[in-house]
Amino acid sequence: MPESLPVTHFRRVQSTLACDGVPLSAIASQAGTPVYVYSAEAIRGAYRRLDAALQGAPHAIHYALKANSSLAVLRLLRALGSGADANSVGEIDVALRAGFAPADIVFSGVGKTGDELERAVALGVKVINAESPGELDRIDAVARACGVRARVAIRVNPDIDPHSHRHISTGLRESQFGVPIELVRPLFRDVAGRAGLTPVGVHAHIGSQIMSLDPLGRTASALARLARELRDDGIRLEHVDLGGGLGIAYEQAPAPTAEEYAAAVVPAIRDLGVTLLIEPGRVLVGPAGVLVARVVDVKAGPHGKRFVVLDSGMTELLRPALYAAYHRVEPVAPRPGLSAPCDYVGPLCESSDVVGRDRLASPLEVGDLVAVFDAGAYGSTMASTYNRRPLAPEVLVDDGDWRLVRRRQTIADLVALEV
Ligand code: LLP
Repeated sequence: MPESLPVTHFRRVQSTLACDGVPLSAIASQAGTPVYVYSAEAIRGAYRRLDAALQGAPHAIHYALKANSSLAVLRLLRALGSGADANSVGEIDVALRAGFAPADIVFSGVGKTGDELERAVALGVKVINAESPGELDRIDAVARACGVRARVAIRVNPDIDPHSHRHISTGLRESQFGVPIELVRPLFRDVAGRAGLTPVGVHAHIGSQIMSLDPLGRTASALARLARELRDDGIRLEHVDLGGGLGIAYEQAPAPTAEEYAAAVVPAIRDLGVTLLIEPGRVLVGPAGVLVARVVDVKAGPHGKRFVVLDSGMTELLRPALYAAYHRVEPVAPRPGLSAPCDYVGPLCESSDVVGRDRLASPLEVGDLVAVFDAGAYGSTMASTYNRRPLAPEVLVDDGDWRLVRRRQTIADLVALEV
């Protein structure tokens, strides 16, 4: 199989779904359900494919922690040479605990607080991606107060439509992110004269789950043009940061490959004499994880459809409820019999708590396991304890074995903060 094709790490072994050969049923019987199961090899493979595809240019991959910030996942990516992209001081601290150095960490985010800026400046992170002139003023003041220069990039709003879900489109003028592109050049001239700031880059992140490469290519070209103009102004950047955004094949329609992505963005940057920095999240971890849930009820619905009620739903995987996102669902050990229409629903009293609507499934009985695919990104990190449901455990499969990397939260954990 060519390297560019995504390799699935969830295959059937004698009809039972397994993660790299470890049956999901064995994990569920010990760890309980719901449980997130991640393949270490899938994460390594995705990172290496992207890294190899970008060989044509000096590049730096800064994994976006928001996709999945479990320490075990972060350590794995760090060991491969990844840097980190943090969107809060919480993510910076978790990255440090996972072994990333401050110089490996990019700090992004539209609403950085004064405390967060103080900590990022004091640590000396690789770069702070500033979102506005006001934020640049605040970073400058914090840095001068500390007697240092903060390394900054300006997040550019290029007004480019990523053709993704509107909730995760961030590069359009109407969205709250970044500085309109035509204002960035004068702003840089101002920044270059500040005692507390060292301008090192330009940054853009136009959206997430992007399936068409044209908007990413146009963003790369726009940033490259800007970097050239800045060079004419005497400002030499170290890097151009294209953000994350590369989509994955939730619905099994082919997603752009790492090679296609590189071909779309590298040519614009290659000859600039700067490093291409990217902040991928989903593409590195999304397909590497499933959410395993158990059937707690099966009942008749309208028009011959069944409701298959699971012990997991929007509390563990918010994406279907929030974005009407599609996630493939499959029985772990399918029973013989005809497939019939069903809705996989969660246990909450919310009509949006539907994991998969209008699916076809083989017969399912109470106690059976199902796997919800592509839950490695924006699953555990967007989980909640709504209905006092403890956070689900996380399991990492590696080298033919599995281990719990986060235990299940208990009710005692849940109430421990209450005084
Ligand atoms: N860099 C920045 C500045 C970002 O805001 C994001 C994601 C990324 C990188 C990583 O993007 P990725 O490569 O994962 O697309 N909760 C949504 C996704 C929100 C993404 C927000 N920003 C979902 O479940 O689809």
